[in-house]
Amino acid sequence: MPIDKSDILESLSAQNNHMVGYTEFNHARLAAIYDAFNSLKQDGAFWLKTIANLGVQRIADLGCGTGLLTNQLAGLGYQMTGIDPAVEMLLIAKRKTHADKIQWRVGSSEQLLGTRHQLVIMTSHVAQFFITESAWEAALRDIYQSLNVGGYLLFDSRNPVVKPWEQWNKASTYRLINTSEGNVASWIVWLDKAAASVKYDIHYLFESDKEHLVSHNVLVFRDKDQLVSSLECNGFAVRKIYGDWHGTEFCQNSSEIIVLAEKISKNQPGTKK
Ligand SMILES: C[S@@+](CC[C@H](N)C(=O)[O-])C[C@H]1O[C@@H](n2cnc3c(N)ncnc32)[C@H](O)[C@@H]1O
Repeated sequence: MPIDKSDILESLSAQNNHMVGYTEFNHARLAAIYDAFNSLKQDGAFWLKTIANLGVQRIADLGCGTGLLTNQLAGLGYQMTGIDPAVEMLLIAKRKTHADKIQWRVGSSEQLLGTRHQLVIMTSHVAQFFITESAWEAALRDIYQSLNVGGYLLFDSRNPVVKPWEQWNKASTYRLINTSEGNVASWIVWLDKAAASVKYDIHYLFESDKEHLVSHNVLVFRDKDQLVSSLECNGFAVRKIYGDWHGTEFCQNSSEIIVLAEKISKNQPGTKK
């Protein structure tokens, strides 16, 4: 069986005392303050406009988190499915205004199998949580299966060319936000980069009781060519690549790689080109 380099990197990172846990999504107190730290801004307007232009109705939000966008889309009349592996995030999502109009599923892309959608979205860099190539390829295959020919996949990923992690230090990322849990300070510390994987911690300090929680995270940074190639190998054609939330066309130094891809073939391609 071929050895997948990113699988090795992942196991090394686990041995390296950096037990990746994504506590930010799996701890009730952190899920409760997620929206206060991550409200939709220009990105939200971009997603709503881009989705409206596609003329679709049935949408799956893979990695929906607390349902920030899922809920807004359901309120606009789209038929929504929200999928996420983090139960604490889904518990927050299920309390929102339009939650009863949404089908919620715990898990990842396997939850798409046997469903029919016209669009699958992965927003706020969910694509970067598929750390290994095998996990990313499996997600693309599951997404492909849930779309009709002509259906779309829309997602964002940060551009590794501009090395955003180099700004991930306490001084540049420190924020103090008033949340439902009172004032909470948060900052990010970049720890390490090995191949395409970036390890970092997110700190949260609750002013009321001084609880200090740390989320140990890893994200994968695929470049534009890697993303395009993986999509083309899995039966998609890339229709647009934007570089920011104004909808500017992607260029080498763009901060974002925002991809709109379309399922073009009826028969799922088996292997890489
Ligand atoms: C940064 S949050 C984005 C949430 C939401 N899309 C938004 O725009 O607010 C990333 C989400 O991806 C989810 N996630 C992590 N790994 C995943 C996977 N393998 N499959 C699906 N979702 C995943 C996390 O649980 C988390 O809720």
